[in-house]
Amino acid sequence: MSAFRSVSRTVARTPLRSIKQSQAVAVRAFASRSQHGYQKQIPSKNAVNPGVLGALAAGALAGWYFYSSPSDQQATGDSWRKVDFNKVYKDIAGLLEDEDYDDGSYGPVFVRLAWHASGTFDTKTKTGGSNGATIRFHPEANHGANAGLDVARKRLEPLKKKYPNISYGDLYTLAGVVAVQELGGPTVRWRPGRSDDKSDQDCTPDGRLPDAAQGADHVRDIFYRMGFNDQEIAALVGAHALGRCHSSRSGFEGPWNASPTTFTNYFYTELLEDKWVPKKWNGPFQYVDKQSGQFMMLPADIAFKTDSQFRKHVEKYAADQDAFFADFSKAFAKLLELGVKFPADAPVYEFKTLE
Ligand code: HEM
Repeated sequence: MSAFRSVSRTVARTPLRSIKQSQAVAVRAFASRSQHGYQKQIPSKNAVNPGVLGALAAGALAGWYFYSSPSDQQATGDSWRKVDFNKVYKDIAGLLEDEDYDDGSYGPVFVRLAWHASGTFDTKTKTGGSNGATIRFHPEANHGANAGLDVARKRLEPLKKKYPNISYGDLYTLAGVVAVQELGGPTVRWRPGRSDDKSDQDCTPDGRLPDAAQGADHVRDIFYRMGFNDQEIAALVGAHALGRCHSSRSGFEGPWNASPTTFTNYFYTELLEDKWVPKKWNGPFQYVDKQSGQFMMLPADIAFKTDSQFRKHVEKYAADQDAFFADFSKAFAKLLELGVKFPADAPVYEFKTLE
């Protein structure tokens, strides 16, 4: 899709946005209830929420619950060998578009789910990462940084039912790959072999994902812990060409650019070319572009402009989209594999895009 078409769609959709945000809050409240539904260890008193029970009374919501509640199928050991991942790829691609969701695509939130499922890895303790997909368990699912990701998990849940032999870790990471590729980004090499053989006991502690209100030192602390260097960090954050911030999720608000459903190097071009000024509002401190006030940057994003070591990579990626695509592809594939012990014969897929 061209940037121009996205611009007109962004503008055309604007009046709907405030309505949709209030719906998003309702979905989130309901979704955390359904997470408890499959946490057998959680005492039932924690699960009783009168407001949510009221919502449950609505027939449509009840139907939705049964459709999207997590599967108790555990994909362990070698079960991934029975899965046709080319078919899964196509089915995930079929879930991306939805005119009524955000800017028309679940792609951005799939990318964020894949990254948050993986980015908890700690090189020292070898804990965290996408194996076991502990992000679907309480308390990790409810860590502040993961707010809103239940929307992506619910969207993918029917595929876990259709392909019970795929693990959640494989499903969530593959969804990130599909989204990057189908939204126009680079091919990302991907391997299956993660297992569901983990529980809420294996949830990582809160605080392993970056805090958007902080700057370069914090960003380095978080990503060095995962085993990334400055160039890889600068390449990864280019994913902020996609999607938007939701005040109902992170507290921040707005898209980074005018084509949030196309994978581009616009994060870097916008960061360098626009003038970013503090947003005047009652929300958390963030930036907006001075010219239109429509686009945003997080404090952590601005660090990629002000920190000279990050900035040299930003300048390169702004000038050369191919270099960005090549480096993003490598760093994203590495991110999705952090801490996963793959069987020696696990095939490496390079999926073809559908169009
Ligand atoms: C400096 C590190 C990072 C920080 C502080 C950060 C922070 C955030 C925040 C606050 C949001 C808004 C969430 C919401 O309100 O819905 C967001 C969205 C997003 N992030 Fe990041 N992020 C970082 C790195 C990354 C990386 C490494 C990736 C992927 C490789 C990524 C991909 C995304 C995507 C695609 C969205 C849009 C989600 C949507 O539209 O629903 N981010 N990020």
